[in-house]
Amino acid sequence: MASPGRNLFRSLAEHGLSTPEICSLGYFLLIAGQETTTQLISTALFRLAEGSVGFDWKDAASGTTARDLIRHVLATESSVPTWRRVAAQDTVLDGQRVPAGAEILLELTGNHESSGRASAAHEQGPTAYGLAFGSGIHRCLGAKLAELEAAVVVQETAAALHGVRLAEPNPEWLRLLSFQAPRTVSVGI
Ligand code: HEM
Repeated sequence: MASPGRNLFRSLAEHGLSTPEICSLGYFLLIAGQETTTQLISTALFRLAEGSVGFDWKDAASGTTARDLIRHVLATESSVPTWRRVAAQDTVLDGQRVPAGAEILLELTGNHESSGRASAAHEQGPTAYGLAFGSGIHRCLGAKLAELEAAVVVQETAAALHGVRLAEPNPEWLRLLSFQAPRTVSVGI
C-alpha cells in the first residue's frame, strides 16, 4: 500500500519532471486511459446487448468470449477510430506521394479485411485489432491494460445480469474524429 502523502505525481516531481510535464501525464491518464476504455466498454456492451456481433450475452460470461468480443470491437469500431500523424520524410505509400510535413489521418479501426464478420475475431492475427492502439514507438502504453479491463467488465456484467435486453436500441452516439461510443447503454430485464 502507498504510504500517506506519496502518490504518482509527487514521485514524478521528485524525479525532476516539471509541472507542465506532470499535468500532461495527468491529462493523458484521464483522457487516454479512462475515457478511451470506458467508451470501448460502452460499445462492446451495446453490441452485445443488441445481438449484432455474433456473441451471445450468456456466453460473454466466459473470459474467452468476452476477450474475443473486445478484440472484435477494437478491430471494427474502436473508441479511438483515427489518429493524426505528420510524415517525417518524403514517402511513397501504395503509389501515392506523401511529402515530408504532410498531415496524415490514420484509420485505426473499421476497415480491416474480414472485420465485418463476428467470427473474424477468432481468425484475425494480432495486427488487426492491435492497430487500434497505434504503431511504433508511441504505441499505446495502456493497450494490454485496456484490453484486460474491458474484457473483465464485460465478463462480470454478463455474469451478473441475466436475461438482459436492450431498452434503447437507437441511443445517441458520440462521433468525434478520435472518439466514438454510444452515449448511453440502457438495458432492462
Ligand atoms: C480502449 C482503450 C484505449 C485505446 C483505444 C487507446 C488508443 C491509443 C492510441 C491510438 C494511441 C496513439 C498511439 C500512436 O501514436 O501510435 C495511444 C497512446 C497512448 N495511450 Fe492509449 N488507448 C487506450 C487505453 C489506454 C490506457 C488504459 C492508458 C493508460 C493507463 C493509455 C495510455 C496511453 C499513453 C500514455 C499514450 C501515449 C504513448 C506515447 O505517445 O508514447 N491508453 N492510445
